[in-house]
Amino acid sequence: MVGRCHGRELLQRAATLLVQQLQAAQYGGSARAAAAASASRGPHPHAHPHPQQPWQQQQQQQRHARAFSSTPVWSSSSCPSGPPAFAFDIDGVLIRGKHVLPEALEAVRKLTHPDGHWRYPVVFMTNGGGVCEARKAQQLSEWLGVRVEADQVILSHTPMRDLVPELAQRPVLVSGRGDVLNVARSYGLQRVLHTRQLGRAMPAATPFSTYPPEEQDAATGGSASSTAAAPPPSAAAPSLAAVGPHPSSAGASSTGIPGSELGSRSGSGSESGSGRFCPVRDLGLATEAAPIDTVLVMTDPDDWYRDAQLICDVLTGAGVATRSAGAAAASGAPPVKLVFSNPDLLWANEFPKNRFGQGAFAHMTLSLFARLTGGARPHHVTFYGKPNPQPYRLAERLLLAQARRLGLTPPQVAPESGSESGSRSGSGSAVLPFSGIFAVGDNPAADVRGANQAGPPWVSVLVRTGVFQGPGPNCDVDTARVAVDDVAAAVEAAMHHSRRLRWHSMR
Ligand code: G3P
Ligand code: MG
Repeated sequence: MVGRCHGRELLQRAATLLVQQLQAAQYGGSARAAAAASASRGPHPHAHPHPQQPWQQQQQQQRHARAFSSTPVWSSSSCPSGPPAFAFDIDGVLIRGKHVLPEALEAVRKLTHPDGHWRYPVVFMTNGGGVCEARKAQQLSEWLGVRVEADQVILSHTPMRDLVPELAQRPVLVSGRGDVLNVARSYGLQRVLHTRQLGRAMPAATPFSTYPPEEQDAATGGSASSTAAAPPPSAAAPSLAAVGPHPSSAGASSTGIPGSELGSRSGSGSESGSGRFCPVRDLGLATEAAPIDTVLVMTDPDDWYRDAQLICDVLTGAGVATRSAGAAAASGAPPVKLVFSNPDLLWANEFPKNRFGQGAFAHMTLSLFARLTGGARPHHVTFYGKPNPQPYRLAERLLLAQARRLGLTPPQVAPESGSESGSRSGSGSAVLPFSGIFAVGDNPAADVRGANQAGPPWVSVLVRTGVFQGPGPNCDVDTARVAVDDVAAAVEAAMHHSRRLRWHSMR
């Protein structure tokens, strides 16, 4: 018996050594293979043909100085025999600005069958937004050359759908570039107003902003921009015109906006007086007739000055843009809730240095609010987006549903009931039958912190094609479980870890 145990121990030790050697060979080889593959790859039909970008030169110089860094992915909550699942960040992982990264195409090849079907559950989880999920899925399909479905896409504002039961009938002010107004309507918000509409309705409020004619304005329901598409009509989201005018806004002076041209439909022919539908004039939104209940910043605004100004106006006026703080306090009106769809200070596009993201806008707006109010913070401020838990819970539900569709999950494992973004409270992660959910991201403060906080079976994987640029192979503050060069190497590492987990579980 003793001899048999000793023999088994020796065998295990030898096997572990062998695995370690294979691992070293694999990772040493993988960087070379990835480099060779990158070099031999032609441009993807949907990738923009372009000369080498400044950020690519920077990364190439750094690549030689880097070493693969990984900590073991052991988790008592992982299901060793389960499949791996993936949550890919978009900016800085799959694309840089308008350029698709070649490693993204390589990663997709590793994860798809020759017929183009996914081998494993995959979601795309970005702090970006401004389009509906179906449109982003269409963009990803074009960029990656593989079919991506809308239910594989989690945008920063996707979990805001959870707010719809509460906000559907309440006046909501939305901020953000692209098509956020239509996105909000498609989610079921029925009394919704964009900051651009509010600014246009009272031009003196933002004298340094310009307002294009409404028919050219995607943000207010005009022609769709290249990055935005109107969502399909939804029974849950009737058009604002169908909702009809607010009873108390019928009078010409009901807006109470001094100097505004909103009082007259047969006005001067200016944008606001042209007779077009205007939610401020026609529904009384952001006036005393219908004070704003909640401000949703759904993606980075295109005009920070306009939006910071108007959001502060609405917050200090308890939902009424023109109301003073004193009058708001005297009215006893409840404070306005403020919700940001992500806290990213920085993100990475094709520019060689990181760019300010929505978190920077939030910081600016909250600082201005504090300066205006003697140091106060708005009563209710909430952040969605990575690293907050909402997108992770939603991803788990979507990945589980995919695993079941792909026949990778025992039928008795059922998705949890609950809100749109799901909840794991009380049930732990035992219901997630994955060897790992590999969250591949470039931003330690968002992607790595979020996956680390989400807990097993989430595995944070940091790449160096975006926000994170070193100096070391991993981030000291938000340390990833696995740190690699790019998304292709991330997929390879994830597959390796899954195989290793399965192998160890069979011993
Ligand atoms: O605006 C997009 C940015 O904040 C982050 O996008 O894809 O890196 O999460 P992503
Ligand atoms: Mg990113």
